[in-house]
Amino acid sequence: MNPPEFPKRLIEVDLPIRRISAHARREKSIRHGHISTLHIWWARRPLAACRAVICAALWPDPADPLCPSEFRAAAAEIILKFACQAAWNKDLAGHCSEETWNRWMGLTKSRSGFDLETKAGRFHLRTALLDFIADFANWDSSTVPEYLETSRALTQVAHEALGGVPGTRPLVVDPFAGGGSIPLEALRVGSDAFASDLNPVAVLLNKVMLEYIPKYGQSLADEVRIWGEWIKKEALKELAEFYPKDSDGATPIAYLWARTIQCEGPGCGAEVPLVRSLWLAKKANRSIALQLVPLPAQKRVNFQIIIKQIDGWACQTNPKSKIQNPKFEGTVKRGSVTCPCCGYTTPATQMRKQLSARHGGTRDARLLCVVTTKDHGSGRFYRLPLEKDFSTVQHAHSELTKQQAGTNDPLAEVPHEPTPEGKGKGAGRAFSQRNYGMETFADAYTERQLLTLTTLARILRESRGKKMPETVRILSCLALGRVNDLSMSLCRWLTSLEAIAAANGGQNRMPVVLDFVEANPFGGSGGDWLGQIDWIARVVEHIHACSLAPGTTACSPAQNPTLPNDSADALITDPPYYDAFPYSDLSDFFFIWLKRAVGMDVLDYDGDLVPKGEEAVVYDVAHGGSEIKDRIFFQREMTRAFSRWRDVTKPSGIGIVVFANKTTGGWESLIQSIIDAGWTATGSWPIDTERPNRQRAIDSAALGSSVHLICRPREHPDGSVRTDDIGDWRDVLAELPLRIHDWMPRLAEEGVVGADAIFACLGPALEIFSRYSRVEKASGESVPLNEYLEQVWAAVSREALSMIFEGAEGSGLEEDARLTAMWLWTLSTGGEGNGNGNGEEETPDEEEGESTAKSKSAGGYALEFDAARKIAQGLGVHMDRLKALVEIKGDTARLLPVAERADYLFGKETAQPTQKRKKKQIQPTLFQMLEPVESVGSWDIPSISKIGETALDRLHQTMLLFAGGRSEALKRFLVEDGVGSDARFWKLAQALSALYPSGSDEKRWVDGVLARKKGLGF
Ligand SMILES: C[S@@+](CC[C@H](N)C(=O)[O-])C[C@H]1O[C@@H](n2cnc3c(N)ncnc32)[C@H](O)[C@@H]1O
Repeated sequence: MNPPEFPKRLIEVDLPIRRISAHARREKSIRHGHISTLHIWWARRPLAACRAVICAALWPDPADPLCPSEFRAAAAEIILKFACQAAWNKDLAGHCSEETWNRWMGLTKSRSGFDLETKAGRFHLRTALLDFIADFANWDSSTVPEYLETSRALTQVAHEALGGVPGTRPLVVDPFAGGGSIPLEALRVGSDAFASDLNPVAVLLNKVMLEYIPKYGQSLADEVRIWGEWIKKEALKELAEFYPKDSDGATPIAYLWARTIQCEGPGCGAEVPLVRSLWLAKKANRSIALQLVPLPAQKRVNFQIIIKQIDGWACQTNPKSKIQNPKFEGTVKRGSVTCPCCGYTTPATQMRKQLSARHGGTRDARLLCVVTTKDHGSGRFYRLPLEKDFSTVQHAHSELTKQQAGTNDPLAEVPHEPTPEGKGKGAGRAFSQRNYGMETFADAYTERQLLTLTTLARILRESRGKKMPETVRILSCLALGRVNDLSMSLCRWLTSLEAIAAANGGQNRMPVVLDFVEANPFGGSGGDWLGQIDWIARVVEHIHACSLAPGTTACSPAQNPTLPNDSADALITDPPYYDAFPYSDLSDFFFIWLKRAVGMDVLDYDGDLVPKGEEAVVYDVAHGGSEIKDRIFFQREMTRAFSRWRDVTKPSGIGIVVFANKTTGGWESLIQSIIDAGWTATGSWPIDTERPNRQRAIDSAALGSSVHLICRPREHPDGSVRTDDIGDWRDVLAELPLRIHDWMPRLAEEGVVGADAIFACLGPALEIFSRYSRVEKASGESVPLNEYLEQVWAAVSREALSMIFEGAEGSGLEEDARLTAMWLWTLSTGGEGNGNGNGEEETPDEEEGESTAKSKSAGGYALEFDAARKIAQGLGVHMDRLKALVEIKGDTARLLPVAERADYLFGKETAQPTQKRKKKQIQPTLFQMLEPVESVGSWDIPSISKIGETALDRLHQTMLLFAGGRSEALKRFLVEDGVGSDARFWKLAQALSALYPSGSDEKRWVDGVLARKKGLGF
């Protein structure tokens, strides 16, 4: 039986991904009113991408032959109306891109609008809809009434034209709703939304956004502000004495602390504060730092504050006392601690051992400095701690001890819940608290922080059922979550901003911080209670500005939907990213306070920590009583979830699955689960999600985009899964390269290259494979998905290579050159969205452990081994024959940096690293006088005893000669030894110049070689 045919949706034929990506990247830096400021959530998807994808998934393609004519006619009218509004309304025109606005102008002038009788007219309408989507993705357009009305009208006519009951709205469901981006956008564009998640914190966030804000609107924001003041007043009655003002009226806004150890140097035993850097403020026009003052006799270290003046550094309290050669390095480097008194270095393992014995050393940390603000005088002021600061801390200790002794209410206790174990290679690798002895969450706070958080939580808890409206109370509890993120001993002082960095802030890990900052939550600065209240109120106002119809939320695992079969029009969801985010453990850092403040019944959950058993992540430590979650677990649970949600989705419905992962294993499991669950892939679009200009690690295939995989239920019209369409393996294999050949240039045009492009090819490739319930070889044997995916990698690698070399597969270059080019291409970013995407943030390691130091020093270009193996296999390359080019260690394969190949290329005795970088040398030949050689490298190569066997080896030899400033040798090598006469040599140089990351040594060296080409007559 032939599969049922449905009109294609826009997203199944086209999507303006470059424009949407630009809006998504920009949105990452938008704060005021953005839902990311309501409460932290991990791997939040940009609203821009969600909005665009939802519109394109709900609206049919007017150019599709099966598109209902009612939709075409109504959509043409709606878009024409919008075009007229844009043409006449200056404000609205300001929201349109130039390209789109010209189209609107053209449309309004043409009078006839779209000629829907012709193919061209229908394509014209498709383009207009896509233009509208691209502009609407802009954050600035997201509350503009004309955009909202137009999108909602289009959603409505699409729904009715596709068979929806008139007057009802389509239902978009997201069973992995997290921070709620997808359901919020579904409501914005005029559909109904159902959001569920198994995490009670996520569910509460969705409830607030989808239910409370649409219901209570602006008054909710106003009340949150009013009651925020009241809560502050109540809290200060108890807490003001713990945050005293200075005698000159200055307000302490932050306290800078350092954990300490005892120096293990022979006979020393001094107390050493663990400080990474002595900077306090490091700005263009303002430099302030601490200086260590060792007191060996007293076995301790004192501090002084120094400040940079026009004539040099001076002591802050005595500006006449100049400081010569100030030091800015602290006492800790990569976890090892150097004692300022005796110079002995205590190793990192011992440092951790000492801290572990004191539960992380938060309670007995050393107060180093107090940051203040003054009513008269802008900016921050720094002072050393005074006796009063120490006595206040002591007072906080006594008060907390007294309060804790006098309570038998578990919700009034400090959080004794256990911290995440943080072991293994899966998502749990995010946590190292236990390595430092922080066994319970309470260990991660100073006693004053515990006193403040328990007090605020109590006020919020006890306000229940009193005058404060319940929704206001709940939103205020979210403000407590924000305070918490800025009130752990895992927060750092940012010297370039003179501000507090949140302990988590959305990263996929919670690093331990050795020198930490404690905010004053009533100091009117970072971490301030009213500041957090304001962030929340602004989100309410922003969402209210879109006048949303309320949505529905539920707390349930995706494996057990609570909706009836065939009730949803679209499943649009963003499931867990395999092993990238330990959502439940991360959220525990917030749940512990939320449950104390909001009440367990509001959360509809009464566990100590958030539920973990059914969370679908790869996590190789059994946590929360769960089984160890390996790849098999992930795939099994995702199959269950996708299969149940296919039942919930109508047979004519659509599915969009957003996914991002750097590992081939992650992708394969996800895809397998989607196919096993009875879905057919019909395409995929990568959308950038990262901030522009973020530095991406050049040594890892980090993704800048999330892939949106488009699927349809592989079902008969009655909802039963099709099992009878068998594909022929030969046909599938014949179609695959053609598909990739069509698709890759399109991606390149949109700026999608490298690993992003590889994963973005999975959708079109799967379209071929997954349209069948089974693909069989001539022998009748069924083809497993992983065998097909190997073919996909091979096809993508071959296509990429022919794009790199603008011709057939590397034009006769040897395997090492082909592998190098493809490897570097995989790591490339295409220049725009150069973040590492998907919230899989590679943040600098705070813990400065030895392991990080080692991995950082490795250098080169690293890929996951399996990805490297697949690339090599696809290109017909044998990696085991290329040991002088690729190093394999565990799960990682490293393309060696050229400098590391010097021994191999020149022989051990000839290639010697020089001690220092050489200064500029001008060589006395004509071409060198014209183009002075900059000796930038660290390689001294006296003679070339052998010419490399392959074009790549010869190119690397010339690069090293250039790096070593050996112009004469380089010239001889290229001209007299004939290396430069090989056209392949220059072709390879050209290709690698485009692929080596800008700023890398290799890029400079290969460009240096290319710059000689003309001068040498090639
Ligand atoms: C990638 S996040 C979703 C992020 C969301 N799209 C956003 O923009 O904020 C994945 C979510 O899946 C949830 N999750 C993990 N396993 C689950 C399960 N078995 N059932 C329901 N939700 C689950 C996590 O709690 C997390 O919120």
